[in-house]
Amino acid sequence: MKASLTLPTPDDTELLGRAVGERLRPGDLVVLAGPLGAGKTVLARGIGAGLGIRGPVTSPTFVIAREHPALPGGRGVPLVHVDAYRLGGMAELDDLDLDTDLLAAAVVVEWGEGMAERLADEHLLIRLQRPSGGTDDTRIAQLHGPDRLIPELAWPCCEQPNA
Ligand SMILES: Nc1ncnc2c1ncn2[C@@H]1O[C@H](COP(=O)(O)OP(=O)(O)O)[C@@H](O)[C@H]1O
Ligand SMILES: [Mg+2]
Repeated sequence: MKASLTLPTPDDTELLGRAVGERLRPGDLVVLAGPLGAGKTVLARGIGAGLGIRGPVTSPTFVIAREHPALPGGRGVPLVHVDAYRLGGMAELDDLDLDTDLLAAAVVVEWGEGMAERLADEHLLIRLQRPSGGTDDTRIAQLHGPDRLIPELAWPCCEQPNA
């Protein structure tokens, strides 16, 4: 399945993330693609909110991976947030010696396209970009993945150019 959404503001991007986060189960993988400043970390923050995890989701650029335990009373799915920008390959992820079992967590990888896919049998790919010639805050999100990971697209704010 493929869906395309227009996201006029960072809040809309965060809301999309939240809707995705609410759908994630242990072992699920989300790959976030798009250039620097596209909004990948904003989206990851929303995913964290949808999962209900501990700690602020910020750019993991200098730590490669950040682990967010599940909050008591929440969904019970921790978040592993990876920034693959400077990761030589996903084999290095295995070497990071994370405390979190990746099969028990939701894993969100920024810059992981072409690398992270092998972490799971199936994954949700979200590509973020500015519309061509765009000068405002608008971003376009394209979602590719299994239906169960794609939120209902009755989006209050947004048209759906190619849905
Ligand atoms: N529609 C939008 N969606 C997401 N971020 C937006 C949007 N409009 C403006 N921004 C801003 O763009 C920046 C995106 O930063 P970030 O999420 O760190 O990008 P990335 O992780 O892709 O490099 C933030 O400062 C955010 O406030
Ligand atoms: Mg980022």
